[in-house]
Amino acid sequence: MKRILLVNGPNLNLLGRREVEIYGSTSLREIEKEIIAVGGTQSMEVIPFQSNHEGEIIDFIHGEYQSVDGIIINPGALAHYSYALRDCLAATEKPVIEVHLSNLHRREEWRRHSVISEVCQGFICGLGIKGYLAALSYFK
Ligand code: DQA
Repeated sequence: MKRILLVNGPNLNLLGRREVEIYGSTSLREIEKEIIAVGGTQSMEVIPFQSNHEGEIIDFIHGEYQSVDGIIINPGALAHYSYALRDCLAATEKPVIEVHLSNLHRREEWRRHSVISEVCQGFICGLGIKGYLAALSYFK
């Protein structure tokens, strides 16, 4: 059984209510439920976590990374400036797939750069919640 972390950063707890024209109407709970269920059919245990606090996310990853096979992370806006999260992910030496629901290249200029992408195995954006499923399929 593989173990995969599913980490969501700031404001993603508001999915389903937040800018639905950009992020869709599915709640984070529904997304987590689906990813856990799909993982279960493919011998993967998915461990979900969401926080609005950079340090809490880093502490969670520190506590879990040694016993997991990979990390799926939607860092929210932390993608654009958190060198602390970038260094945390690099320290895990685990494959990380960065997911963004929206297509960052069709949005504001400042969203086009992610400081964590360079330490990730892959980067998925613009596929909505299917991006999480695509990331999960990488770990099959
Ligand atoms: C996001 C994109 C980020 O720029 C933004 O700050 C988010 C959500 C996405 O999933 O498209 O919070 O990560």
